[in-house]
Amino acid sequence: MRHALLLGLAAAVAAGVPWTQASAQMDDPVAAEFDKFREVLEKDNPAELWEVKGEQLWTTPGGPKKASLEKCDLGLGPGVVKGAYAQMPRYFADVDRVMDAEARIVHCMITLQGYELDKLDDKPFSSATHTPDPVSITTYVAAQSAGMKLAPPQNHPKEKAAYAIGKEIFHYRAGSYDFSCASCHGVDGQRIRTQPLPNFTKPEQAIRSVQGWPGYRMTGGVMHTLQWRLTDCYRQQRFPEPGYTSETLSALLTYLTVNASGQVYKGPGIKR
Ligand code: HEC
Repeated sequence: MRHALLLGLAAAVAAGVPWTQASAQMDDPVAAEFDKFREVLEKDNPAELWEVKGEQLWTTPGGPKKASLEKCDLGLGPGVVKGAYAQMPRYFADVDRVMDAEARIVHCMITLQGYELDKLDDKPFSSATHTPDPVSITTYVAAQSAGMKLAPPQNHPKEKAAYAIGKEIFHYRAGSYDFSCASCHGVDGQRIRTQPLPNFTKPEQAIRSVQGWPGYRMTGGVMHTLQWRLTDCYRQQRFPEPGYTSETLSALLTYLTVNASGQVYKGPGIKR
């Protein structure tokens, strides 16, 4: 019996998935300590550095067309940034699809500034030495929704479809471990190592999928957006990674954000 248990544990550790149950997250002393630590740090949040960089990138003419992004329509009209992040993902008629904030920003960089998607999605995520421009711009745009209630619209049929598709993807099990997002994020009180895993199917915990993102990640000291977070979770799920700014990621983000609707977004934050 003990032998079998040890073997099971060894297999889990070898797979990089040490798996333990914890008491309900709210009573979790480790999580509570970390929240305190984060609160102190967020008073001087390094994310502000990327906000400033993102604002410069938004207002300064750039790209092959030497245009700024000030005419970019984030859903509230060309150039309106305030409150836009809290109301995305949403449907955009010009592309006839639902887009999350980063997908829309990349779209504007292509259409207004003349960048090519091939170049923007070559290395889309931050490293210790490089922050891609869409990451800084998304951080700037997100900051302009700090203190606002999340209100991703669910009016257009494609917005409703995106929610339904996102929900389906969230619960879709496959891959070498037969995991879905819900295996890790659809149950109360689960954790991996010291990280509590929020249950995103519940509104009061779903806010954790939005809050603090884009986030300055203490591990590595880099700025990351939700495009990165979700892509990295695909890796944890042992799934092939979805395309950067793809409809798959916008649909998942629609599902997560709509579940958190009505709660107040605090702006870019700090993550472990
Ligand atoms: C094998 C378990 C596992 C699977 C499967 C998984 N995740 Fe995660 N997820 C994690 C871990 C671990 C974290 C990081 C927690 C931390 O660092 O605090 C995380 C964090 C997140 C976060 C950020 C939460 C926060 O508190 O900031 C989101 C959003 C997320 N996952 C979404 C997804 C989605 C969507 C899927 C399916 C495509 C998915 N995850 C699949 C383990 C998983």
